[in-house]
Amino acid sequence: MKITSKELRDKWLNFYKGRGHIDIGAASLIGDGTTGVMFNVAGMQPLMPYLLGAKHPSGKTRLCNVQGCVRTIDIESVGDPVHCTFFEMMGNWSLGDYFKKEKTAWTFEFLTKVLGFDGNKICSTVFEGNESAPRDEETASYLQELGITKDRIFYLPKEDNWWELEGTVGTPCGPDNEWFYPRHDKACGVNCGPACGCGRYVEIGNDVYMQYEKTENGYVPLKNKNVDTGFGLERLLMFLNGLTDCYKTDLFAGVIASIEKNANIKYDESAEQTKSMRIIADHMRTGVMLIGDKNGILPSNVGAGYILRRLLRRAIRHAKKIGLDTDGLIEVARIYIDEVYNNAYPLLVEKKDYILSSIKAEIDKFNKTLETGEKEFDKTVSGMQRKVEFMSKNNPNYVPSDADKVISGKAAFRLYETYGFPIEMTIEMAAERGLKVDEAGYQEAFKAHQELARANSQVAKSGLAGSGEMETKYHTATHLLNAALKRVVGETSHQMGSNITAERMRFDFACDHKLSDEEIKKAENLVNGWIKDDIIVTREEMKKEDAVKAGAEHQFIEKYPDIVSVYTIGSASKEICTGPHVEHTGVLGHFVIKKEEASSAGVRRIKAVLE
Ligand code: ALA
Repeated sequence: MKITSKELRDKWLNFYKGRGHIDIGAASLIGDGTTGVMFNVAGMQPLMPYLLGAKHPSGKTRLCNVQGCVRTIDIESVGDPVHCTFFEMMGNWSLGDYFKKEKTAWTFEFLTKVLGFDGNKICSTVFEGNESAPRDEETASYLQELGITKDRIFYLPKEDNWWELEGTVGTPCGPDNEWFYPRHDKACGVNCGPACGCGRYVEIGNDVYMQYEKTENGYVPLKNKNVDTGFGLERLLMFLNGLTDCYKTDLFAGVIASIEKNANIKYDESAEQTKSMRIIADHMRTGVMLIGDKNGILPSNVGAGYILRRLLRRAIRHAKKIGLDTDGLIEVARIYIDEVYNNAYPLLVEKKDYILSSIKAEIDKFNKTLETGEKEFDKTVSGMQRKVEFMSKNNPNYVPSDADKVISGKAAFRLYETYGFPIEMTIEMAAERGLKVDEAGYQEAFKAHQELARANSQVAKSGLAGSGEMETKYHTATHLLNAALKRVVGETSHQMGSNITAERMRFDFACDHKLSDEEIKKAENLVNGWIKDDIIVTREEMKKEDAVKAGAEHQFIEKYPDIVSVYTIGSASKEICTGPHVEHTGVLGHFVIKKEEASSAGVRRIKAVLE
């Protein structure tokens, strides 16, 4: 490698810190809900209030950082050499401080002096102007002062040289100045340039002059003239190393090598499996980042959790396709945590066990249904083929139509509902066979199902049916309380009995004294701490004697079957139990001990609730 990802990040931050900027560090990847965007898609997103005029908490007007971003809009393209769903944006900002003159000069200096680009080859594009904002002659003139000749400055329309967060209002935006570098000297024609599309020019990064607010009624000038710079780390790293495949940079090389080894295949541009290897490398990386984020999420069936699930499940399917087993897939995640992002993202290292066990839980969950689901999919497809064959044989006028190549919405919904196949995955599998999926039909089936579920839950709320969900929560809370009491009272404390309803839990345990208020508080705090840590609950099947050896709590060991389920809640608790339990402790709410009293000789009883 001519330059590593770490060196590039450091060069960026040092350059701007040397010019009066403070490194504000990276914000969470998960959107805060104010922009309607699920993930952080740009370095400027967490800074929006300050670009609109609020004072930054640091009190400073020159900021820089390297900010992780997640964009899933191009997820279908992942598998090619350059698309990623996670990337790092190197950024710097002026909040009403310096403007075009300084910014053009610094970008030029950084590119030529720090990174070694030839200043005589650099090209730049500026906004050509429209009814909302003038042609950016100002930037063009500064570029010329830097020695970028007129023939290397291109005026482009809004589609190219205007930056805003799409689909939003009340957000800052403005014309941008994009920086390009030619890969070679051969022009494709007289109009060869950054916008001709021949691939000669590579975009290196951009400086946005955020001086407008996008409102319902158009673009309104902001009080402050701001700068918002974004240089994509992966893309720049690839280019600086003379590569056209970002999976060959140091960010991915270790992961790709590990997949090669563990699946016993080669990463090779011409091979079919290479696409799967990239999908695995990309999706697992984003998965690690989203789970290990400071506002980390877990796979689920809604919102951001669904996107995460979709990414992980797609990786799992492609792993199966190329013969990479669960350990190999977990190893990919481990390499990112331990070897690639350990310095830049220390939180990942801190949350390593949690991240890996969460991913493992999702793999185990999906592996259970993946195979049967694939069989079901194959059956659906062969059923369709048989129909075509039958019709062709029996009806001389029959010509297979497009409709014969569409998997029904109902079938797609069944794959989702019964086997956990995200619809996008079914679509991808269908495309691999030259088929389509009736997406509208799927949505319809989905909606009908939701309505039914809603009706059922109305019934449940009115008390006509059991409230299984609360009972499951109390079940997990019981394990946590058991574990907490062991720490507060001592190892001699152990469960003697328990009773759960949808409203409360009761827990009997061995203990020779009445708990003091302080002991009660301590136990409560421990449980609430574990809830706050949002620990993943995992289930393993093992031989009874192995479970005991592993230190799993148990009550009536002789009554258990030879193979038992062991539920583990991080380092907090390990118990033999039949379940059910919640998937992660964060859903439990707030744990309160309502009463502590004697039950019988040497046995105390606690009544507690989840609020
Ligand atoms: N906001 C600009 C971008 O994301 C800098 O490219």
